[in-house]
Amino acid sequence: MAIRRQKITIVGAGVTGATTAHWCASKELGDVVLVDILEGIPQGKALDLFEAGPIEGFDSRVFGTQNYSDTKGSDVVVVTSGVARKPGMSRADLLGTNAGIVRDVCQKAMAASPDAVLVVLTNPLDVMAYVALKATGLPKQRIVGQAGILDAARFRTFIAEAVGVSVEDVSALVLGGHGDSMVPLVRYAHIGGIPLSHFLSEAKIAELVQRTRVGGAEVINLLKISAYYAPGAALTQMVEAILRDKRRVAACSAYLEGEYGQKGIFSGVPVILGGGGIEKVIELELNAEEKAAFRHSADDVRAQMAELPPDLR
Ligand code: 2OP
Repeated sequence: MAIRRQKITIVGAGVTGATTAHWCASKELGDVVLVDILEGIPQGKALDLFEAGPIEGFDSRVFGTQNYSDTKGSDVVVVTSGVARKPGMSRADLLGTNAGIVRDVCQKAMAASPDAVLVVLTNPLDVMAYVALKATGLPKQRIVGQAGILDAARFRTFIAEAVGVSVEDVSALVLGGHGDSMVPLVRYAHIGGIPLSHFLSEAKIAELVQRTRVGGAEVINLLKISAYYAPGAALTQMVEAILRDKRRVAACSAYLEGEYGQKGIFSGVPVILGGGGIEKVIELELNAEEKAAFRHSADDVRAQMAELPPDLR
């Protein structure tokens, strides 16, 4: 039986899409198709990345296109397209413009790759994942929003820096919507199995939690455009978990139908991420404070969803 190399479609050849393509190709996760409406951009970025193969030692084929026919038969589709924040903007400010873009690209990509797992990054993330679900009618487990891996990576980075340890030994979960009301779960954070409270004061932990919550804006205020290295790395980790059926445990935005007391919205929860997408939503016993914070974050997502055009609600 011929072994078919797996295929990754990345929609949006902006900095996040291109960075994700870079990491997926260099890790040889599969062949990469980069799609964008801008003539020349996906083709040029893909060709340039493809030509790095001999130097970096990867055999992934990388191809850029405007045509979704070139994405046919993809195993994973990553959606990064849409407008990104500028300084002073909230993720919710992007909703009106990005809802139409995400609906359009998801329908086109999934028509060409009906068996793919769909990973969404476009903001406001939890609402855009919901748009993807409404636009495609895919089973909920095959639509995964990227938020918690990125937010946890920021929290882990700040913890490792504050304590002076390797990031590899810092474990953290960030639940809830991908916005300022996200829920870094301090109680579950640990360093090599040792609770965070052994290393840091409550005040310092609270400072790192707050910095995590506004981590996206911190980069935007410096860069004047949205972050892309860490978001691209988070997307790549999800692509790898799906393509290699790694059954990773991480916080992803999932469609909830009762879990954590929420129905009919996407929000960040711990999941097992594998070949079928979200293999399982893991329900934790949250304490009263965590439950209230999760509910508040879910209410923020619901309020944004109310801004969707009627045919997408
Ligand atoms: C961030 O937090 C892009 O929403 C993403 O940087």
